Amino acid sequence: MPLRDAAARAETLRREIERHNHAYYVLDARTIPDAEYDRLFRELQALEAAHPELLTPDSPTQRVGGKPLPAFAPVRHVVPMLSIRTETDTEPTGARAFDARVRRELELNEGDPAIDYAAELKFDGLAINLRYENGVLAQAATRGDGETGEDVTQNIRTVRRIPLRLTGNAPQVLEVRGEVFMSRPDFERYNEKQRALGRATLVNPRNGAAGSIRQLDPAMASERPLSFYAYGLGETRGWTLPETHGSLLDALKTLGLPVCEHRAVVRGADGLIAFHARISKARDALPFDIDGVVYKVNSLALQQRLGFVTREPRWAVAHKYPAEEALTTVEAIDVQVGRTGAITPVARLAPVFVGGVTVTNATLHNEAEARRKDVRVGDTVIVRRAGDVVPEVVSVVMERRPMKDLVAELHGPWELLKEYPVCPVCGSSIEKPEDMAIARCTGGLFCPAQRKQALLHFASRRAMDIEGLGDKLVEQLVDNAIVKTPADLYTLGMSALANLERMAEKSAANILAAIEMSKTTTLARFIFALGIRNVGEATAKDLARHFGNLDALMSADVERLQQVPDVGPVVAASVARFFAEPHNRTVIAELRQAGLRWEEGEPQGTVASPLAGKTFVLTGALPTLTRDEAKDMIEALGGKVAGSVSKKTDYVVAGAEAGSKLDKAQALGVSILDEIQFKELLKGGVASQ
Ligand code: IVH
Repeated sequence: MPLRDAAARAETLRREIERHNHAYYVLDARTIPDAEYDRLFRELQALEAAHPELLTPDSPTQRVGGKPLPAFAPVRHVVPMLSIRTETDTEPTGARAFDARVRRELELNEGDPAIDYAAELKFDGLAINLRYENGVLAQAATRGDGETGEDVTQNIRTVRRIPLRLTGNAPQVLEVRGEVFMSRPDFERYNEKQRALGRATLVNPRNGAAGSIRQLDPAMASERPLSFYAYGLGETRGWTLPETHGSLLDALKTLGLPVCEHRAVVRGADGLIAFHARISKARDALPFDIDGVVYKVNSLALQQRLGFVTREPRWAVAHKYPAEEALTTVEAIDVQVGRTGAITPVARLAPVFVGGVTVTNATLHNEAEARRKDVRVGDTVIVRRAGDVVPEVVSVVMERRPMKDLVAELHGPWELLKEYPVCPVCGSSIEKPEDMAIARCTGGLFCPAQRKQALLHFASRRAMDIEGLGDKLVEQLVDNAIVKTPADLYTLGMSALANLERMAEKSAANILAAIEMSKTTTLARFIFALGIRNVGEATAKDLARHFGNLDALMSADVERLQQVPDVGPVVAASVARFFAEPHNRTVIAELRQAGLRWEEGEPQGTVASPLAGKTFVLTGALPTLTRDEAKDMIEALGGKVAGSVSKKTDYVVAGAEAGSKLDKAQALGVSILDEIQFKELLKGGVASQ
């Protein structure tokens, strides 16, 4: 390709790629498939390799980072980079004090009109000055001491959200100031990746941003996902300044720079207070951390009149929020048992004020997390309480681990089963799979922490089907200590029920009748009702069919259990552990004594059922059968019902208004049956198909 054509093509590619970058990173809108983007990018790289003279500093290929630097060169700021005065009074009075100060400086009287302010977020990262010359990013510098910063151009180029070239009519010189930061999701993702690679993780997003920008190896910097928002100006040449800060931000946005949408022009102290309150509510939903908001006098002319005191402008202030993170010490580590038996380690803390409340407990999520963070009694830790979320231990401050008194050393890494061999609530054994996932109490039928959940499941429609025993009633029965285990349901009398709040005599009688009716059931329903972990309805049916009677099931070991079709090691272990727990056996004995009955048979072993191994998907409304009826029919013959269509589906039974599942079945060539064909299949066995 002649050089002239190559130059033109390279220019087109540069603009095209940057346009997609801007759409993706700034506007959050994808304009091109990844593969197509990669193709454009590689074409540009190839052109630049063939014609090195075509390489420009604003080429998107330069974002990947150049050679490591020996040190950063100093950059003298033409316009000093100031800092802002911080208002630490987090109450509305903080905003009033600022407004009063501004009015006093401007010598305004009470009768004079309110002042307009530009209100925006206070981003928590690193301040950066971006210098664009004739629209092209020429230099990026840190703030340093405000007079002289460091040249971090190479690293800044790796930040995809920062345009290498401005759009539209760019002035001769435009210095844009703003904050480079790391979003929370990017921070979490980056750390997860690092952990998987066994590499060092970042302490918090702020350090992540500052560390990346001050990283001498741009290739390393480019691996760290950073963001940027513009909030002000440095030197400008050949540019007509807008009249207000608000319209200045609009102008920067038009030039292709990222400007945060959470901003407003508000009037007077009341406007500031309303903004502070609004952002306080939105704070937790933001994908990045802020520690406050910033108020700036909107009129640039008034800003000029107000001027500076030392390094701080009189026209701006940062109004803080209560900190979401604080330091405290761990006094003990114990556990909580959740509704489903999940056992969560909890750090008991020296009381600390964080996120607006005093916190004394923080979750450690699970044992794997507790160990990863290596939290020990005596440690100093960072606690985080964001909004109404449960406070959590973020990390240990290792430098503060008390080596001298050896407290933490003596405690060693925390181990759940060592500290809690049994459930602290009910004394049942704890189930703890090898892979360090969540530990659980196995006393499902007996454990007070799990009572409500266990009862609701026991009574549910596809389990014991006790109509009328819902959320509210279970709540009352458990809270008033009337019912402790499912067996207690069968000794309930009229008086116990009728005394409950909002319980009419008639409904009490109905519930007692429903409880009585539930005594006649099937073995499969009973097994399902026990709420054994990993035992759903289908597995309960398999177990019932295979063992034929409850005693055989209860005495089966893991090996015997695994002989049941579709029962693997995980399910087998859950079942064995459940029946090994004496507390559960007691409740089962009580239930049998209460008069529960079902047909018991001889073990069927693995006799093949006509539909064994066949998977069905039901979709749409069938003319006569309900979905549950169809499901029962399939399962009675040994088939399975799945929720979605895949290559493994044998039949799709489709009724009226069948939707995407039917389309998918057609696309995959899966046999489709209507209700009549379905019934024929069940009658005639699988052979006819
Ligand atoms: S304006 C003349 N606006 O806070 C005022 N600063 O001490 C110059 N910051 O290091 C700063 N968000 O990095 C301004 N919306 C915002 C800001 C903001 C965060 C940082 C900035 C600076 C510090 C101020």
